[in-house]
Amino acid sequence: MKITVVGAGAVGASCAEYIAIKDFASEVVLLDIKEGFAEGKAMDLMQTASLNGFDTKITGTTGDYSKTAGSDIAVITSGIPRKPGMTREELIGINAGIVRSVTESLLEHSPNAILIVVSNPMDTMTYLVHKITDLPKNRIIGMGGALDSARFKYRLAEALGAPISDVDGMVLGAHSDTGMIPLARHATRNSIKVSEFLSEDRLQQVVEDTKVGGATLTKLLGTSAWYAPGAAVSSLVQAIACDLKKIFPCSTLLEGEYGLDDICVGVPVVLGKNGIEEIVTITLDDAENTNMQESSAAVRKVNDLLEV
Ligand SMILES: NC(=O)c1ccc[n+]([C@@H]2O[C@H](COP(=O)([O-])OP(=O)(O)OC[C@H]3O[C@@H](n4cnc5c(N)ncnc54)[C@H](O)[C@@H]3O)[C@@H](O)[C@H]2O)c1
Repeated sequence: MKITVVGAGAVGASCAEYIAIKDFASEVVLLDIKEGFAEGKAMDLMQTASLNGFDTKITGTTGDYSKTAGSDIAVITSGIPRKPGMTREELIGINAGIVRSVTESLLEHSPNAILIVVSNPMDTMTYLVHKITDLPKNRIIGMGGALDSARFKYRLAEALGAPISDVDGMVLGAHSDTGMIPLARHATRNSIKVSEFLSEDRLQQVVEDTKVGGATLTKLLGTSAWYAPGAAVSSLVQAIACDLKKIFPCSTLLEGEYGLDDICVGVPVVLGKNGIEEIVTITLDDAENTNMQESSAAVRKVNDLLEV
């Protein structure tokens, strides 16, 4: 199993580190355009191998896509991150060009790769990859919901005073401050609905804190977060590499599901060796469905800015 991660910045390197620590891949190639950067990150990470006990080989390259040839999975994290006060949508101008050229170069050398899109605005970048390639939809996956769900569980556990392992919950919709839909109605603590423990107001606070989870960290860090994003990507990669058939919310091309068409937005999917093996359609109530339609309408407006 060979995995390429394009962009050896904060998220790309964190993703490579978690993939290596989980020790399921034979090889991870980091690629960046900044001279020597990916090589340096790869060397630093390899020097953690004996300490962290993994055998995954991590190499780095400055822009040489021949080194990525034959990758089974490729992760696209290249592009600028947001700064405090910015929305993810504002990144489209620069990142669309980067994602387009990176996708073309990746597929030239790894025509069978499954692509995981991380660069923001992620739902629109995932849609862009669909538009510029003729890949089947199961091989184009946008990562956002796995991260947002991890943030939701963190906030739920905080409100409940419970260990995170006791908590389950999922976030659907767009990967944006206003478009995320934390499914509070379905969230549980060890199979008991969280509404049994939390007041409506407290639960609403959890939802709001989850939606601005990325913005809160960007304000604290001065740039966007990387540990949880990297861990979330590594979980998707592992589910594909190990054919786990696990459900994650991912951005995927919808063709009628949830009443939506020709748009990529976060919905539950089953991930296995073929990438997205199934789109899971769950019954949303009226409020959730309205949120889904509004969230998608906002993504569509950003998609309209693409030159495709
Ligand atoms: N989808 C999500 O959940 C999620 C979460 C966090 C961050 N992000 C996004 O991921 C992206 C990366 O964030 P980061 O914090 O790692 O940024 P970063 O600046 O630390 O790293 C980005 C890297 O991309 C490289 N790069 C730029 N153009 C390139 C090209 N054409 N080819 C190869 N490499 C190139 C840069 O040199 C840099 O090292 C941003 O767009 C950010 O908004 C998405």
